Amino acid sequence: MSASQQQPGAGAVRAPASKVGLYAETSHAALRLSFATTDDDLARAIASHAGERVQRALDAIPRRRYVKQATPIERLDNLSALLGGAEMFVKRDDLLPLAGGGSKTRKLEYLVQAAIDAGADTLVTCGAVQSNHCRLTASAAARERLGCHLILEERVAGSYDPAAGGNNYTFGLLGATTAVVPAGGVPEEEARAMATLRAAGKRPFWIAGGGSTELGSLGYARAALEVVAHAREHGPFDAIVLCSGSGGTHAGMLAGLRAAGDRTPVVGISTRAAAPAQAAKILALARDTVSKLGLGGAGAGAVVGERDVVVLDEFVGPGYSLPTAEMAEAIELFAREESIFLDPVYTGS
Ligand SMILES: Cc1ncc(COP(=O)(O)O)c(C=O)c1O
Repeated sequence: MSASQQQPGAGAVRAPASKVGLYAETSHAALRLSFATTDDDLARAIASHAGERVQRALDAIPRRRYVKQATPIERLDNLSALLGGAEMFVKRDDLLPLAGGGSKTRKLEYLVQAAIDAGADTLVTCGAVQSNHCRLTASAAARERLGCHLILEERVAGSYDPAAGGNNYTFGLLGATTAVVPAGGVPEEEARAMATLRAAGKRPFWIAGGGSTELGSLGYARAALEVVAHAREHGPFDAIVLCSGSGGTHAGMLAGLRAAGDRTPVVGISTRAAAPAQAAKILALARDTVSKLGLGGAGAGAVVGERDVVVLDEFVGPGYSLPTAEMAEAIELFAREESIFLDPVYTGS
């Protein structure tokens, strides 16, 4: 039935007055809600309208187009059967474009666009000695024909090995230069590297560690809408579990979900910080991300509340990136049961 065919009184809305108050917000919402027949329909209609608003806000902010389609959400049939309880699903962000896949591609869409808009010719960023973020920033730089300088922080003393494989090998392969600093040495080296590049006539652009600014976090607000769309078609999830490191993944996911009216609990697994400090960081970044989208309304605090932020720190083990037997077991389980490679620092933990 189109709007013009609709009869007065058709599709009576049975909902508490507070929900109907939202319905008057825009004519678009009113059009959708006029077909709602139950409280559930009403809640879905409000959420769908909110999701469209978030999508429009995200689309209005310029970005590079590395991500061509939503990453698949796959049911982990073997692991779900093996663990004998919850149905488990995985969003395959390991399949994202740029070299080797992984979460940072989504953030770099926005961050690299900002660099290009600022007239930059060199990306400068930092990470741990085997940083996925550094690999993907170098990869984006290569794709964009930009220079790239990586500051590698030796967070665990003695952990840097110039001959190491893995991400370390890809930095040079992708054309990036590197500088290695001890734990805590990034700000000083950042200032030095930026000044040196400028003195050489370059136009460097600084990307924060992990790309976790409110601009970078928009990439995970986009990912949240992919989850919302999937849930609308296939049913909701009871919880979303993700890694919480520099925080943009966690904060962006929360910001996107809550701004879209989706209340699915989000559980962040801290890879480094104690839970209270990590939760405070995520709350601030999620609210900044909502504000960046211009969707705060009465305030970003009304969109993402303190109770929305859940952080578990019991999987940090002896320290950031240090291997544990449980991590090794998780990696083996995912490989053997599902043919999926986890990484030892983040998804493995
Ligand atoms: C594979 C992977 N998953 C999750 C994360 C955590 O993301 P964030 O730094 O946004 O908290 C990272 C960070 O580097 C990562 O490399």
